[in-house]
Amino acid sequence: MKFSVIGCGKVGATIAFTAMLKNFAHEIVLVDVNSDKARGEMFDIMQCEAYEPQTLFHAGSYEDTAGSDVVIITAGIPRRHDEPRVLLLERNARLIADIVRQVVNYSPECILFMVTNPLDVMVQLAYEVSGFPASRVIGMGTVLDTARYRAFLSREFTVNARDIDAYVIGEHGETMVPVASNIKIKGISLEQFPAYSDKILTDIIDHVIATSGEVIALKGGTVFAPAVSACIVLEAIVHNASAILPVCTVNERYGAPLSLPTVIGKNGAGTVFDLALTKAEKERLDASVANIKTYVDELHS
Ligand code: 2OP
Repeated sequence: MKFSVIGCGKVGATIAFTAMLKNFAHEIVLVDVNSDKARGEMFDIMQCEAYEPQTLFHAGSYEDTAGSDVVIITAGIPRRHDEPRVLLLERNARLIADIVRQVVNYSPECILFMVTNPLDVMVQLAYEVSGFPASRVIGMGTVLDTARYRAFLSREFTVNARDIDAYVIGEHGETMVPVASNIKIKGISLEQFPAYSDKILTDIIDHVIATSGEVIALKGGTVFAPAVSACIVLEAIVHNASAILPVCTVNERYGAPLSLPTVIGKNGAGTVFDLALTKAEKERLDASVANIKTYVDELHS
C-alpha cells in the first residue's frame, strides 16, 4: 500500500503517524504547501523507525504521490470553535479542487479519502472534479461523530465503547443525526440498563453535536479523535475488512453526499445501508440532507 497525505497540519501529521504505528502502508508521502512543514513531520516520524514498524516516508510534491492506493486530503483552513464548518466552504473549495486535480493526475486508480471541512460538500467536490465512481471518494463523515457518541455512551453506561452499536448519520456538521432509537450494547437495548433515562440520552446527543466546538475552544483544534477515526477507515481499506462504518459518500438515493453505515474494503465503499428510524429521526435526517443540498447548491453557484 502506498498512501499520500495532502496537508500536514496536526490532523494530517497525526494520521500519518498513526498509520505508521499501525503498519498500514509500505510508503507514505507527505505533501504540504509549506514544504518545510512536510519535511519536518517526515523526519520526526521516520526517526521512530528503529522502535516502530518501518514505513518509507517521503516529503515531496504531487509527482511523488504517483501510484498511491489511498490519498488522504486534510489540507485547508480548519474550523474555529465559534463558526460552523460550512463557513469554510468558500475558503477551501478552490484549494481542494486544485489538489484533487493534481492527485488524480498522478494516481488515477486511488481511493480519495476526504477529511477537510465542510466535509460533505468536499466529498461532492472531489467526486465531481475527480470523475471517480462514488465508491472511490470517501469522506470521514460521521465516523468521527459516531466515535464520540459511543465514547460518551460508554462513560455514562459503564460499558465497553467497542460493544456499543450506535450511529450518527447525515451531515458531519450542525445537523448531524445521532440515532437514539435502537441503540444496542452487545445486543442488549440501552433501555435495559439501570442508568438509562430519556434525559441522559438527550444530554449525550447534545454533547455529541457540541463537542467539536468545545474541544476547539479548549485546545485549539480537534486532532486525535479525527485522526483515529480516519485510521479506522484506512484500516478497513488496507485489510479489505468489509467493516461497516458511517463514512460520507455521494448517494444517488438521497441525491446528496451524506454519511450512512457503509461497507468498506479494498475497493472503497460498498453497500450503503439505511437504518430503521423513528418518524422524528427520519425528519431530522431529511432536514440534514436538505441542509447539505443547500451547501452543494452554494458550491455550484
Ligand atoms: C470535528 O468534528 C472539526 O470537523 C471537525 O472535530
